[in-house]
Amino acid sequence: MRRVPEPELMDDPEQARAYAEADFGEANDLFVRLFGELVGGGSLTGQVVDLGCGPADIPLRLARVYPDLRFVLVDGSEAMLAHAQAIWARAGLLERAQMLQASLPPRDPLPASPYDAVISNSLIHHLHAPDPLWVLLRSCGKPGAPVLVMDLRRPESRAEQEALVETYAGDAPSVLRRDFRNSLAAAFTLEEIRQQIENAGLAHLAVRAVSNRHLAVSGRL
Ligand SMILES: C[S@@+](CC[C@H](N)C(=O)[O-])C[C@H]1O[C@@H](n2cnc3c(N)ncnc32)[C@H](O)[C@@H]1O
Repeated sequence: MRRVPEPELMDDPEQARAYAEADFGEANDLFVRLFGELVGGGSLTGQVVDLGCGPADIPLRLARVYPDLRFVLVDGSEAMLAHAQAIWARAGLLERAQMLQASLPPRDPLPASPYDAVISNSLIHHLHAPDPLWVLLRSCGKPGAPVLVMDLRRPESRAEQEALVETYAGDAPSVLRRDFRNSLAAAFTLEEIRQQIENAGLAHLAVRAVSNRHLAVSGRL
């Protein structure tokens, strides 16, 4: 299937609200599990940056598992960051997060960088030109820092795209169904992601399918 890019920022308030209220528990748990496999057992300390954090449910789950981690949460959408702020405040964990509204890649260095870990979920497929993001990712982490990027994988056909929409968003509000359909069409293939990380000097990171609709890039800087 040909790639059809979608808008980068999710800054429409209705779209941000629908996304923040949706249940992404299965995918977000998968992210937390993959992160755990990447870093191994034991305690973790330091600063993690989440690029394109949205409502920041994934870092919140990580914050609960790793009580010594602090988070820099970056998104270009004011509406999404307002949800992140509210969700972290409700969890009583706001003092462990610094939220930053910035378009990625940013003009200035990110605060408190370089980071001890770099994470991102479902950002790459929004980017019209993803190469600079991989360069940012390489430069904003400390040497040896774990990196985990998860995203959707573009289906091979319209039929597969529609089947995924039906299975995972069949009962969702129409704005979410539309966004999921568009996101699948905007997503990259495993081969395209491999090319992107090679261009950025990150060819040593592993790229693999981790579900019937997700891929993950993982390893250490
Ligand atoms: C599909 S959401 C994913 C949010 C979150 N990572 C999650 O897993 O729930 C993608 C997010 O990336 C943000 N985004 C997209 N392009 C961006 C850019 N160029 N700079 C900053 N944020 C961006 C959007 O505003 C949106 O909040």
